[in-house]
Amino acid sequence: MNKKEKEFVKNLVRSVENFPEKGVIFRDITTALKNKKGLQIIIKDLTERYKDKGIDYVVGADARGFIFGAAIAYNIGAGFVPARKPGKLPAEVESVEYSLEYGKNSIEIHKDAFSKGDRILIVDDLLATGGTAKAMVQLVEKLGAKVVELAFMIELADLKGRELLDGYEVYSQLVY
Ligand code: PRP
Ligand code: ADE
Repeated sequence: MNKKEKEFVKNLVRSVENFPEKGVIFRDITTALKNKKGLQIIIKDLTERYKDKGIDYVVGADARGFIFGAAIAYNIGAGFVPARKPGKLPAEVESVEYSLEYGKNSIEIHKDAFSKGDRILIVDDLLATGGTAKAMVQLVEKLGAKVVELAFMIELADLKGRELLDGYEVYSQLVY
């Protein structure tokens, strides 16, 4: 994504103060995704970056990670695996608990989602504290697969999620 495209997409993201609670500036991606050109720029950039990296599966985080994850997986010819909020997946799951910028949760993945050594791209809309992303890394590794990189549309630099992911490749399209 070049500088002009970055600026274009950043201008499409809506910032909402005090949502979902006081003190949080919520970066609303819906306003960027609904823009035809914006959506093209975002997905094309991620597709170009990962098309030749030998990715077997793209793992998307519930719920906003699904939007990006499935589009990228389709474009690069990989499979898509959802990492879901608790109680949503029907078969046997692996589960990890994590903290959020606002609250606590856990995330689950089907135990038979990958085979040992599979190459995984983890995708989400936004990196805040890194709790969700770190939990996803733990899930992937518990199943014996390899995290090639983590990709985000937005990184909130102040919350230092990147530090929690030390040792892993992290790509973000826009930094706030
Ligand atoms: C948001 C966002 C990321 C996560 C980032 O999801 O989509 O998944 O928080 O925060 P972290 O880096 O501090 O973990 P949320 O859990 O709010 O769920 P949603 O996608 O269902 O809105
Ligand atoms: N997820 C966690 N923190 C967020 C924020 N500030 N904006 C949008 N999504 C988020």
